[in-house]
Amino acid sequence: MDSILIRAAGPLSGTIPISGAKNAALPLMIASMLTDEPVLLENMPRLADVEALTAILSNHGVDVQVRGKREGDSTTTGRRLEFRAKTIVDTTAPYELVRKMRASFWVIGPLLARCGVAKVSLPGGCAIGTRPIDLFIDGLEALGVEIDIDAGYVNAKAPAGGLKGGHFTFPKVSVGATHVMLMAASLANGQTVIENAAREPEVTDVAECLVSMGAKISGIGTSTLTIDGVSSLHGTTHSVLPDRIETGTFAACVAMTGGDVLLAGARPELLRNALDVLEATGTQVGYESDGLRISRSGDRIAPIDFTTEPFPGFPTDLQAQFMALATRADGVSTVKETIFENRFMHVQELARLGADISIDGQTATVTGVKRMSGAQVMATDLRASMSLVIAGLVADGETQVNRVYHLDRGFELLEEKLSGVGADIERVSGD
Ligand code: UD1
Repeated sequence: MDSILIRAAGPLSGTIPISGAKNAALPLMIASMLTDEPVLLENMPRLADVEALTAILSNHGVDVQVRGKREGDSTTTGRRLEFRAKTIVDTTAPYELVRKMRASFWVIGPLLARCGVAKVSLPGGCAIGTRPIDLFIDGLEALGVEIDIDAGYVNAKAPAGGLKGGHFTFPKVSVGATHVMLMAASLANGQTVIENAAREPEVTDVAECLVSMGAKISGIGTSTLTIDGVSSLHGTTHSVLPDRIETGTFAACVAMTGGDVLLAGARPELLRNALDVLEATGTQVGYESDGLRISRSGDRIAPIDFTTEPFPGFPTDLQAQFMALATRADGVSTVKETIFENRFMHVQELARLGADISIDGQTATVTGVKRMSGAQVMATDLRASMSLVIAGLVADGETQVNRVYHLDRGFELLEEKLSGVGADIERVSGD
């Protein structure tokens, strides 16, 4: 199994191109199942999760074609992938495929909308908590769907004549369940109103793509979405928005090492809250026409306090990376995780590098240390893995991050991007 080796190499400088957002790319791919016409997605990141979802969609009959590069495209320019779900050949999403990626459960929305039935494996738990599906079930029931759970599968059936518009208020914000409701309601009969919907920029990106496919959605970007169902959707071309989590992650890298890096293509409005926390560490954030310039000089990283919340709050997907930054702060920081239970698995790995962190329930208290030393550590989940890379950028000696398949799920060309700005990082084959 591959691992990543990192040695401290001083301040980072140069330019890192920001990729298309994984968390938009995946639901956009799934949304392509809502029409029998081609959906061309541009700025698609090269990620293991995109490959895995491609296999899952193929199983349902979606044809996927890689479209050619255009003049001026570089190795880091996102790919252009065309998805065409001319006919849905299978309405079952089997356990072997769904267990690999929770987001593949979301095919339940288009399957119900297009075919009226879906049999989708329960996604199961994962390293960062139990991640139930109650909100999906309650939401779909509000559209008239009958649901029965049996032998590890969700069997769902739309009413005769198709999904019915309905009114649903989420008791808790869920990104995935909002995606599914948007997709299903777009092809339902009549009007659907979703309250307390997720406002994450990736939800907005998917909603905008659906509108370009002919969906009638209002309230995009707010917590109340109104969808007037249409009888069919058509093909479109849509460019995936820049990845705010990748942006915040590389910003944390620069804050950790010091230096001056342009995050090309990054959009500040996608992560205002995280940028405010970053500035509180003493890191400068420059807003430029072609991206965000992150710079820090001098030794001191000021301590920070932050709480993860649904958008526009601080994103849970940046919690581990900012905690890594806090391990070197000049003082005590507090980090509160409110989205997922058990999302502190990186703490024990950071401790192996010399971090001083204690946990009490949902809150981690991080006492900054002057020095950390490289060690072997294990990636536990996608974002947590990056916290170990960030710590490795300043730890003495060599840090070896094992189980890097987690990183490959969500960070495109990671070693290339970081070594391009002066980091000493390489991938080694583990066999
Ligand atoms: C998405 C993101 C993930 C991010 C998360 C929160 C993708 C591919 N993944 O995950 O990177 O960390 O949003 O911003 O976009 N919940 C329930 N019942 C449900 C569904 C969810 O209780 O039926 C809970 C979850 O356990 C969690 C919270 O709601 O505690 C938020 O989860 P949700 O927003 O649904 O996360 P995902 O969509 O799975």
